[in-house]
Amino acid sequence: MQNLSNDLQKPSNWRVNLDDTKIKLDVSLKLMKKYEWLLDAYVLDFFLDDHWSQLPENLQLHFKDIPLEHLCELLQTEETEKLTWPRELVDLKRNLKELCISRTPRNHTETSLPCPLLEHPKLKHMFTKRVKPKKQHEIRRMAEICALSHRQTPVEFIVDFGAGVGHLARILGYGFGIQVCCFEMQDELNQQAREIDAKLESMATKHLHESETNHFQRPVHLTQRLESDTQQEHFLSCIRDALQLKKEDFSFGIVGLHPCGNLGPTLMRMFLGCPQAKFLNFVGCCYQKMNTEITHPRNQVHGYPLSSFLKDTRESQLSYEAREISCHAMEVYHDRLQVGDYEHLRIHSLRAAAERIIVQEFPHLRHCALRNVKHSPGMTFHEYFQRAVQGTRFEALDSRLLSNEQTDEDLKNWKRIVVFYTLRLMLAPLVESIILYDRCLFLQENDCDVRIEAIFDPRLSPRNHITMAVKPQFL
Ligand SMILES: C[S@@+](CC[C@H](N)C(=O)[O-])C[C@H]1O[C@@H](n2cnc3c(N)ncnc32)[C@H](O)[C@@H]1O
Repeated sequence: MQNLSNDLQKPSNWRVNLDDTKIKLDVSLKLMKKYEWLLDAYVLDFFLDDHWSQLPENLQLHFKDIPLEHLCELLQTEETEKLTWPRELVDLKRNLKELCISRTPRNHTETSLPCPLLEHPKLKHMFTKRVKPKKQHEIRRMAEICALSHRQTPVEFIVDFGAGVGHLARILGYGFGIQVCCFEMQDELNQQAREIDAKLESMATKHLHESETNHFQRPVHLTQRLESDTQQEHFLSCIRDALQLKKEDFSFGIVGLHPCGNLGPTLMRMFLGCPQAKFLNFVGCCYQKMNTEITHPRNQVHGYPLSSFLKDTRESQLSYEAREISCHAMEVYHDRLQVGDYEHLRIHSLRAAAERIIVQEFPHLRHCALRNVKHSPGMTFHEYFQRAVQGTRFEALDSRLLSNEQTDEDLKNWKRIVVFYTLRLMLAPLVESIILYDRCLFLQENDCDVRIEAIFDPRLSPRNHITMAVKPQFL
């Protein structure tokens, strides 16, 4: 595994042919298999299953007294090492760098398409009010890219899968004058979306001249759930009705900003199945929520793998735990390590120590008893435990159970869990890249031209890769 093919160039803006994608996938899966034991080790089970003892002895020794700040170097992809690491880790880091799709967005001046409405002094707040900075960052960039695709691959409208309250559609519709048909399964979100649209229109009437609103296209918000077995005919007839289309040969682009779990694969299938769909732009999320053969053996179709190449490859499966870690932000953890933010770094050990206590009392409740607890400075283990079981039947658990030698020992070993978690995070981009390469290949196998690239700041938005595809007639 030390010498990867010279053909494998560092992919930052990733657009290669079908055979290269297969090579990438093949080599990535081999590397993943080597570290499957680490990827499949769920952090909650760290003490229960004694994960530390699974680390090779030389690594245990190396990490025994290492200052935690040093670990951040293992999560740096762009810089070269200053510290001395065991050979295996140096090789692993180099291989990961060669194989994984870069998480650093390029300078995007050549693909930027400013939207004047977002800067309008009286109207800009309509796009930012009650929208978190993370979402503001995402919708701005995503809208620019979708508007560019619309320009390069002219279509009559865009369909947004899992549109939420329509933040993206609003910029496309009012900012860029593109008609958008939103599919969102939660009716409350659609109601909210319509209210915000109406408010924006009324503000625009006050502050803009008529000539400045001529291009406005109010988005259409449909309450519809799109599943992997949703028929194309049904999907197309929903669009036809919503947009009152008389003809059959309309054309559209498909977009999705963080369509969760299976919705990503569903939108890809719909894109390939509908001749009217001409381009596709989406940024996926929640890979752990996708159906796979392991989790849903009876299902006809799965969220992963999608490509025929991987479906025919034995051992292409990715566990729930591996897909879950691939959604975590290695950059944020890197920063916590770098500044020695021990308060945050300790939280996994509190969780794993609490899990041991729960499972010892109720073995059948593994992985399901603890609630998420937001970290607060100076929180003791007792406080953590009370919050983690608040409102559950464990609330009444005898507090003497919390003070025992085993728990004290677990808590004393909190740095081990930081080391172990850092090693898992190192591999997270490999798992994500495998999922993305599989998606890319699925589209390539169906004759599309595909590009994958990081478009968001990974610290703000950890799922930051866009998958862009166009059908052959537009190449
Ligand atoms: C992570 S949110 C993203 C929302 C929006 N795109 C944004 O970026 O603000 C995913 C959205 O997809 C919707 N969704 C999930 N599964 C869906 C499905 N099968 N059909 C339609 N909508 C779905 C959810 O209700 C949720 O609003």
